[in-house]
Amino acid sequence: MKITELIQRHPWLAWILFGGTAVIVFLVGWLGASIMERRSEAVMQYQMVKPIADWEPRNEVWGENFPREFETYRSTTDTSFESKYAGSKKRDLLAEDPLNVVLWAGYAFSREYNQARGHYYAINDIRNILRTSVPQPATCWSCKSTDVPRLMNKMGPANFYKGSWDSLGHEVVNNIGCQDCHDPKTMNLRITRPALAEAWARQGKDINTATRQEMRSLVCAQCHVEYYFKGKVEKYLTFPWDKGFSADSMEAYYEEVGHIDFVHTLSKTPILKAQHPDYELYRTGIHAERGVSCADCHMPYKNEGGVKFTNHKIASPLENIAGSCQVCHRESEETLIKNVNDRQDKVMEVKLLAEKALVAAHIEAAAAYKVGADSSELVPALKLIRSAQWRWDWVSAANAVGFHSPLEATRVLSTSIQRAEEARRFITQVLIKHKASPVVPMPDLSTKAKAQAFIGLNMPKLTAEKNEWKKKVLPVWDAKAKERQGSANY
Ligand code: HEC
Ligand code: HEC
Ligand code: HEC
Ligand code: HEC
Repeated sequence: MKITELIQRHPWLAWILFGGTAVIVFLVGWLGASIMERRSEAVMQYQMVKPIADWEPRNEVWGENFPREFETYRSTTDTSFESKYAGSKKRDLLAEDPLNVVLWAGYAFSREYNQARGHYYAINDIRNILRTSVPQPATCWSCKSTDVPRLMNKMGPANFYKGSWDSLGHEVVNNIGCQDCHDPKTMNLRITRPALAEAWARQGKDINTATRQEMRSLVCAQCHVEYYFKGKVEKYLTFPWDKGFSADSMEAYYEEVGHIDFVHTLSKTPILKAQHPDYELYRTGIHAERGVSCADCHMPYKNEGGVKFTNHKIASPLENIAGSCQVCHRESEETLIKNVNDRQDKVMEVKLLAEKALVAAHIEAAAAYKVGADSSELVPALKLIRSAQWRWDWVSAANAVGFHSPLEATRVLSTSIQRAEEARRFITQVLIKHKASPVVPMPDLSTKAKAQAFIGLNMPKLTAEKNEWKKKVLPVWDAKAKERQGSANY
């Protein structure tokens, strides 16, 4: 007899079947929920194999407790991935775009400037770059190492910033890592860099009230931001956000405090050098507006043997589209990469127009001085160049070639072009007034070597001096650091 016929004869059987199914569904659900609960307890309690001391800078020591996070973090040493514009491979940005050399004439960036790579290289790269051959303040270490919170706790931030870069070389030896973003007792995200907390406080906000989702970007905003060193002696690390986060607001801030990073050797313009305003540019984009954090794209979840954890291999998301983008977007990997590259191509096109206009303005101003113009005649042009260069650099120095906010990046670059061209028109009038040709010939700037020779850099000499210094100083720093690491109270 079929079950349907049975039910027709005895209707109460249907109720028994229904009740039985309900009980089974409930039991399966309850079991599932209890497994989930256990798992989240396992994640939340952080059974430490070895308690972590308050200012422990060594990532390996934290790693003993959290092998998955540590292994993925350590794989930021992998430099094999390269995308169209970024990636972890060492890329010489001056060779890729020699116009940068001329834009930074008079500043150490014209000597060497590379694409950012993994956090694990931070110490190595700051030691080796030709920019640290000129005297730098200790403030330069601020975004490079887990030793920074340790030293700031010991010395106080103001004393930390005041010293010279060299004076802390033997102290700052551990690469960016766990201590920079985590509380060692609870493993909660925390802010260890006072400059960020102070910038929030000046806006009347307490950083301790940030939500978890905000923290997933703010830990990055400790370093991936625009900043300057306030005070000739103090060199106090400061974020120029008092008037807002946009290129315009920060420019207004810098005008008010009269900040100058360097004077351009060709045009004599007092220049503002933008650092890497990744967080600020990101904030103007659609992802930030929709509440997507830096960690959502750069630190997606990963599954290993049923354990879900945060992938600490912070790098280009194009290396891992499935984890980084396809959590939210249904498009294919090829489409998503194309979407990124399309936006970058367009930003790059406008960025190069801004560079050409700016380089011409610097060279034409130099020509005006040559025919007898003095800087007072060029004041309006220099103001325009200063603004144009800040706006170009604000986008150029930020990572991702504008992807974090393509529309805003393009807007800011267009205002750069407008100001640079306006400066050039003004300089042309000055040239005519001095009876010189308004058409200034442009030098050959097609390679990094030619551009560096044009601005008068002796690269073989600078490189030889750096190599001498490395041979002499680095072994001493490393020996001292090793000695200290062996001692009880590191
Ligand atoms: C919607 C996803 C997304 C968010 C959110 C996001 N990024 Fe990115 N980021 C990207 C993409 C895509 C690139 C371009 C990678 C490439 O061209 O290879 C990139 C590039 C970068 C790079 C350069 C990578 C390299 O290979 O050198 C840095 C640094 C960076 N982002 C930092 C940040 C920071 C800091 C935040 C938060 C303030 C952030 N990103 C938010 C997607 C994102
Ligand atoms: C640049 C900042 C940063 C650094 C450096 C960093 N983390 Fe994290 N970590 C995060 C973020 C963001 C999360 C996600 C937290 C959240 O969503 O609440 C996280 C989550 C974690 C978690 C929670 C479990 C999980 O995987 O989601 C552990 C444990 C952890 N990290 C350990 C480490 C260890 C160990 C190191 C050093 C090897 C380290 N982290 C370095 C930012 C960082
Ligand atoms: C303590 C300062 C600091 C913090 C905090 C920090 N970064 Fe970085 N980041 C750096 C520096 C410095 C570099 C460049 C290292 C190099 O090239 O030697 C870098 C490089 C990168 C790169 C390029 C990696 C590659 O392989 O191309 C990405 C992407 C990045 N950071 C994203 C982030 C994100 C996302 C966060 C937050 C979760 C974050 N960073 C937090 C300082 C920091
Ligand atoms: C946490 C969810 C989330 C993640 C992760 C994410 N996105 Fe998005 N993305 C969004 C949302 C939301 C929008 C806005 C569109 C909307 O609201 O319909 C958006 C918009 C976009 C747009 C169109 C914006 C524009 O400039 O016109 C592109 C392109 C894009 N995402 C690419 C990416 C890529 C590439 C990644 C990975 C690196 C990524 N997204 C990661 C949620 C996400």
